[in-house]
Amino acid sequence: MASFSSTLLSWHETIQRELPWKDNPNVFHIWLSEIILQQTRVEQGIPYFLKFRNRFKTVKELAECSDEELMKLWEGLGYYSRARNLHKAAKLIHDSGGNFPDTYEGLKALPGIGPYTAAAIGSFAYGLPVPVVDGNVNRVISRIFGIREGIDTKEGKALIEKTVEQVFDKEKPAAFNQAIMDFGALFCKPKNSDCNSCVFNDDCYAFQNEMVSELPLKVKK
Ligand code: ADE
Repeated sequence: MASFSSTLLSWHETIQRELPWKDNPNVFHIWLSEIILQQTRVEQGIPYFLKFRNRFKTVKELAECSDEELMKLWEGLGYYSRARNLHKAAKLIHDSGGNFPDTYEGLKALPGIGPYTAAAIGSFAYGLPVPVVDGNVNRVISRIFGIREGIDTKEGKALIEKTVEQVFDKEKPAAFNQAIMDFGALFCKPKNSDCNSCVFNDDCYAFQNEMVSELPLKVKK
């Protein structure tokens, strides 16, 4: 196929998704947005992000906020461990001079940041060449490249990672990561994907083999 990345990025240019954490991006607000979006859909996360951005201009303000106020602001989003870890991480950063880690490993060492979130923050904030692998990416990659190992198995995970590494655009890590997440969320959806108008349909293993509803495969119940 024409380069996966160029097809994906051209597709991404056709959608105009307003994401407020992309206005004047800074690592503090990118981090906030990625924590909010860990278990929350973009549409639901946006008003919370705006509320947090308004209340906290700096990591210092977040570190110094009371637990009560933070929990109150988080109310309605669920998964409160995210808020507790956010607070812990803000205090750690503030206590160590106020600078965010700017490496993948440094980000991943903070409470509440796993491999996926470290890749998202690292690429969006610093242009680090690390691909994100979330549920959306698992679905897109499994379908297009015909990954028939369970995505919940060690072999399946390794295969997805290897495949993403092969198609990842190291020149444009942030654009690639945002585009593949948006493609999974808005187009290559779990159900009711409009495959007939998909930019990848000629090359998509799942579409060509009538396996769209079967992929990604999960083997554990
Ligand atoms: N989900 C997690 N991070 C996201 C982002 N930056 N854009 C859209 N969806 C996301």
